[in-house]
Amino acid sequence: MPLRVCLVCLGNICRSPTAEAVLRERAARAGLSRELRIESAGTGGHHEGERADPRSREHGARRGYDLRGRARRFHRDDFARFDLVLAMDASNASALRRLAPDAAAREKVRLFRSFDPSAAPGAEVPDPYYGGPAGFDEVIDLCERAADGLIAEVARSRPRGD
Ligand code: 4NP
Repeated sequence: MPLRVCLVCLGNICRSPTAEAVLRERAARAGLSRELRIESAGTGGHHEGERADPRSREHGARRGYDLRGRARRFHRDDFARFDLVLAMDASNASALRRLAPDAAAREKVRLFRSFDPSAAPGAEVPDPYYGGPAGFDEVIDLCERAADGLIAEVARSRPRGD
């Protein structure tokens, strides 16, 4: 059974689609595509149905990441479909915990950067939406480190001989 992961930010147009593309690409490179089911969503619905922000798509493409899909909002029922619900920042994490139907669902919520062994406790992926181009590149850097940390955990927990 693959680990089912949902990456979550506010709009699902900048950070979480980037995180989704980075995690998918790096899982593929590690030969772990079949061990992970990866989606993304937003805690807010303002951008539902939209493609990822053109700045995120452009910065991603330059670094080999293909941001596909359309923005969607994370719903209470979605908790049942995922093992891990990974928030980009503390505000997304609190919104998700408030939405969670029970304690088991609340425990699925973690900060994405908590998988990065070099990150401080509570470290976030900052919202690049109102800032300049450097912010979009930083999002990719931070997502790569967190994705690699998560992939390392998946690789460690994978049954041997698989
Ligand atoms: P995201 O970025 O949460 O990384 O997708 C944002 C996108 C849109 C807005 C804020 C953040 N907004 O205020 O519309």
